[in-house]
Parts: sequence; C-alpha cells; structure tokens
Amino acid sequence: MKVTVTTIALTELDVDLLLVPTAKEGTSEAITEGTRLFGPGVERAQADITGALGQSVLIYPEQSKAKRAAFLGLGDADFLTADSFRKAAAFGADLAAKVKAETVAVVVPPSELFDAEISSQAFVEGFMLASYQFRTYKTKPADFTGAERFLLHTDGELKSVRKGSDQGRIVSEAVMTARDLVNLSPDEKTPELLSRHIERLGKKYDFDVSVWDKDLIAEEKMGGLLAVNRGSQDPPTFSVLTWQPENAKNKKPVVLVGKGVTFDTGGLSLKPTKDSMDHMKADMAGAAAVVGTMEALARLKIPVYVVGLIPATDNRPGEKAYVPGDVVRMHSGKTVEVLNTDAEGRMILADALSYAKTYRPDLVIDLATLTGAVVYALGSDVSAVMTNSRGRARKDVDALIAASHRSGDRLHPLPMYKEYAELLESDVADIKNVGGREAGSITAAKFLEHFVEYPWIHLDIAGTAFLQKPKPYRGKGGTGFGVRVLVEFLRSYS
Ligand code: BES
Ligand code: MN
Ligand code: ZN
Repeated sequence: MKVTVTTIALTELDVDLLLVPTAKEGTSEAITEGTRLFGPGVERAQADITGALGQSVLIYPEQSKAKRAAFLGLGDADFLTADSFRKAAAFGADLAAKVKAETVAVVVPPSELFDAEISSQAFVEGFMLASYQFRTYKTKPADFTGAERFLLHTDGELKSVRKGSDQGRIVSEAVMTARDLVNLSPDEKTPELLSRHIERLGKKYDFDVSVWDKDLIAEEKMGGLLAVNRGSQDPPTFSVLTWQPENAKNKKPVVLVGKGVTFDTGGLSLKPTKDSMDHMKADMAGAAAVVGTMEALARLKIPVYVVGLIPATDNRPGEKAYVPGDVVRMHSGKTVEVLNTDAEGRMILADALSYAKTYRPDLVIDLATLTGAVVYALGSDVSAVMTNSRGRARKDVDALIAASHRSGDRLHPLPMYKEYAELLESDVADIKNVGGREAGSITAAKFLEHFVEYPWIHLDIAGTAFLQKPKPYRGKGGTGFGVRVLVEFLRSYS
C-alpha cells in the first residue's frame, strides 16, 4: 500500500473514499462543514452521524471529486487517544473493503484537537493493519486485496503528518512481517527455515544476522534447547540479530529474546488437539515480534544498539524425546527437573537468557507465548509484564507500560514476590520446570528469573499473539503483538 500526504483542497481530492473523522462533540460542526463542501447529502445523513467510536456513515457527495465520503466516529473528545484514531481508521478500512475503494483519503484533525504526528501514525497503522490479509495459501485470487493508496489530508501540518505517516507505514509493515511468520505453515518454518527467513530479512533491511547450528548450540552447552529438541526430526537453531548503528545512544545493548517454538505439541505431555494444539504454530510469535522489531529499528534508523536472540525448535514426542523425570543441565550450569514436557518455552528461553549475560546488557526483554494461564488472567487484548526490578528495569518497566498505552500493544503488570519461587523447588535438581496449578504465568517468570543476572523484563504474549475472533485492526491469526510497543519504547530509550 502506498501512503502519501496531500494538501489538495478536500473538494478536489479525487479518491474512491474520503474518510472524515469526528468526535461526538464535533458532529454539528462536521455536518455544517461537510454540507458546505460535499453538498446536501450530508445534512440528510445528520441524524445518523453521532461520532460514536466504531461508527461509519457513508454518503455520496454531490459537489466534490471524491466518489464517496464517510464520517468516522472517534468517540468522546475528552477521551481521545492514539487508539481512537487506529480504531476509527480500522472501521474505515472495513468500509473501504466493502465498497472496494482503491484510493482512500483521511482528514487529519487540526493539531489543536490532537498532535498531528501521533494521529497520522495511528491512522496509517489502523488502516494498514486492518487491511492486512494472509493469502499465501489461497489459490483463488481475492475479491479485493485492500486499497492501493492511502492519503492523509492536512491543511498546515505537512511536516508532522509526513513524519507520522512514514513511521506508521514502516511500523505496520514490520508488524505484518511478524504476522506473516506466525501465520506460516509449520512445515515452512522449521528452525532452519525460520532462520533462513530471518537472514533474508536482515539482508533486505540491513541488520546483521548470524545463525548457530546444532553443533554450535551443543558446544555452547545449551542443554534446555537441546532437551526440547530431542523428540524432533529437525535440528534447532539459535539466531543472533544485531542492530548497532554508529550513533547508538547505548554502549551495552538492549537484548530482545523471542521464544521460537515452531510448533508445540506438548511433547510427551501431549496437548489435546481441540482448542489447545491446533494453533500452536503461533508458539514462535515472540521470535516473530523480535524479528519485526529489528526490521522497524533498522528501517527507522533508531539510534539504539539492540541484539535479538532467537532459540528455535519444535516440541514433539519423538522416540528420543525428553521425558518427565529427566534432569537437564542448562547453559547456566543449573539443573532442571522436567516434570512436564509441555513447559518447553521456559527451557529454551532460560538458555538464551543466560547466554544474554555475555553481552553485559543494559536491559533484557523477552517475549514469549509462555502460559495458557495468562489467557485466563488478562484475555486477548492485554499482555502480562513481569520484572526482576533490578537496576534500571524498575524505571524501564514503567516506560514500557507507558509505551504500551501509546502503541496500543497494551501491557499490565503481574507481581513477582519471592513466595512464588517456592513453588519451583525440586527434590532432585536445583528447580523443576513447573510450579503447579496456582499462578502459572508468575511461576513461569520465576523460573526464568533463575537464569537472569541483569535488569530484565518478561512479556507473556500467549493471549495476544494469535486471535481466533477478529478485533479492529487485528484480524484472526497472528497479530504481530510486541512490535509496536517495543519500537515505541526503544524510540524514546536513553
Ligand atoms: N505454548 C504454550 C502456552 C500457550 C497456551 C500459548 C495457549 C498460547 C496459547 C506453552 O508452551 C505451554 O504449553 N504452557 C503450559 C505450561 C504448563 C505445562 C506449566 C500451559 O500453560 O499449560
Ligand atoms: Mn508447551
Ligand atoms: Zn509452548
């Protein structure tokens, strides 16, 4: 999709659909102004135009070049956030699809109402992300593949609108990269194939990628990753992604770790299929979010030194599969008693996290579809955030949560009291890999904390990474959760 900015008079904009956003308090003004610009059709529609968020009222202008115009509700003016614009644009995209509009324009509100850079970025994100379709495996061409061109109209804020729209487009494309990887068929993203996808993206967008094979992983003694991989037909990989611009503000990197379980059967502690195993191709969504984030950082040339680490394997009940009772010696040297092979994510993350120490990182953030429990706790709109509250992580977690609200990838904290760690005590090893029925998302984080010796933040994205019911600008399937919040956080990192 092409995104451009225009200052052409609204009546002269020759588009298939012109989107006119209006808050509840602004409707009468929008109707008067709309009637003046487009003709009496607007006045006839006035009873329908309420400004409620989610509303779109279509009219056919008599006196402008636009074929159609639609009034998009933004909700209460007092409660406007970037997400109001994202959602309104998403409803605009739905309407564009209904009428098969190839060219769509949106009117950016004046900056007295809302910061133009932020609203522009949000419009582009909402529109592009709602227009996303995954058609790789469809043999029939789509009726409509989304608008070809999206224009932002402004009277006087050319610079901010352009900046916001560029950011919106690049971030949206990075989110779509993550979605594509999550939606990919598992047999096309075995660890080696996934790593090849990552290498290709690194070449394309100019970040560095190096991929370790099984021998290197063994040499590095990544016992957790190797244990999970034992039931598999495909060797594991460990991908290291680096974005280190010359003007980076930090000497020591921010390390991002993404869970790359390319398919999670549960292993010998096998999952039931229905509503449990059937979407486990998405168990590498943390990895996908790291890849998408690196893409956006490189394209936006964000001046922060960032390293991405992606341990990848599938989790299967093969002949040599690891079994409950196995004691695994991890990369860090600690021993883990495996009591459930389905708690595999923490086994591979633990190795990546203890390896991350070799960078002497400023901060480490991991993203993982780690626990079913977080889906019950927070649902599919909000991810859980946990931290060891060491050093700068205490402040960074607040900055990350603030960035989450700006970006729409929302986060909410769960506690990390030391009492939770008692649930992981093992009779035979240093710890066991499951904590029992209580507080499953927290005990998973407590497990990871054993392998962390630096400021650290953990995001459990099991509920948000993959949707079975569509939401505005997040359709069914992979959502790309994590990319937007991380880019927003790293943009203001210092
Ligand atoms: N990949 C799953 C978690 C998951 C569940 C992701 C639902 C997305 C949607 C993870 O590997 C897992 O199986 N976790 C277990 C842990 C348990 C055995 C301690 C879980 O949550 O049931
Ligand atoms: Mn599992
Ligand atoms: Zn898993």
